[in-house]
Amino acid sequence: MIQGSKQDRNRINLSLTNGSYEIVIKSDGLNEAGKELINAGFKPGTKVLLVSNSEINKHYGDVCLNSLQSEGFKAEKIILEAGEQNKTPKQISLIHDAAYKYQLERSSLLIALGGGIVGDMTGFAAATWLRGIAVVQIPTTLLAMVDASIGGKTGVNHPGGKNLIGAFHQPSLVLIDPKTLETLPSRELRAGMAEVIKYGIIKDPILFKKLEEIPNLNNPSSIDKQDIKDILERSAKAKVEVVESDVKEAGVRAILNYGHTFGHAIETLCGYGTWLHGEAVAIGMVIAGELAVIKKSWKKEDASRQKELIKRAGLPIDLPDIESEKIWDILLSDKKVKDGKIRFILPVGIGKVRIRDDITKQEVMQCLAALR
Ligand code: GLY
Repeated sequence: MIQGSKQDRNRINLSLTNGSYEIVIKSDGLNEAGKELINAGFKPGTKVLLVSNSEINKHYGDVCLNSLQSEGFKAEKIILEAGEQNKTPKQISLIHDAAYKYQLERSSLLIALGGGIVGDMTGFAAATWLRGIAVVQIPTTLLAMVDASIGGKTGVNHPGGKNLIGAFHQPSLVLIDPKTLETLPSRELRAGMAEVIKYGIIKDPILFKKLEEIPNLNNPSSIDKQDIKDILERSAKAKVEVVESDVKEAGVRAILNYGHTFGHAIETLCGYGTWLHGEAVAIGMVIAGELAVIKKSWKKEDASRQKELIKRAGLPIDLPDIESEKIWDILLSDKKVKDGKIRFILPVGIGKVRIRDDITKQEVMQCLAALR
């Protein structure tokens, strides 16, 4: 359950033993990126390399660059190729090449302006340039705002799997401008909503209820702006609480992977690009819910409430036509498997989950069969 906070609603602090940073949620925040950097402790005159992709750059690249330059930052920009297929070491080299060209120093800064892919790659380039320079995350997709930009996971894909190359590297600031969602395609907004529903299930029953009460959840651009801000704030707080208690995912942080174990399997087997990440997570949550019912850890009514909410959000709930054996094989090859045991995150209530490694193949097969 999210704790009541005395902090400014729009400034959430993430505190770790070796430092802290703010998640700032502010309409028109992009116009104030330069001021927010100064507020976060960066000095005018600092060299900044802004990293984005062509679509985001078209809408917001110059707004952000102008805001930085008008506060006296020496800002340059590099544009990457968009898409999961381009989340590669090659693009990290391009960021490093630009860092070399602009002679970025230890005191310099990389800024990620974009979705989770830009954020993960920029964070990884920052973690590795000169053994680590600062990074600021300015997420422009719902998914990146509520999940990827917070908590310091960075990386790129390897042909063997997603995010196999990476580092933990916390940002110095996360600046969320909800106005940037106005140019996000509806399908991507809906996909981001899957991660918001995830927070409702794993930690925040009030958020879950709020989502149930929002009309036209499947048309996110029609959602009231204050509701969007509340959703962003509650999701960010949920993520912050989990990261603060287990920054390197030694234990409880794994609950953020709720829906992702099966979701990754679906993404891999259907081919990246068939389902957006959030859509695959939505189906993954339905499967995990069913498994929890089979394990008698979750009430059938709660699993139905979850399914109904996912459906109302315009997200898929049906298992794609993939052989169950293939799903099982992918689950076994996941990087989070430990000593041959697959870890599943299963709900025990709305707002509470448990990490379990006692699920048998037979139970997974029974669950998948029940959903066909
Ligand atoms: N996206 C999951 C995590 O940050 O741990």
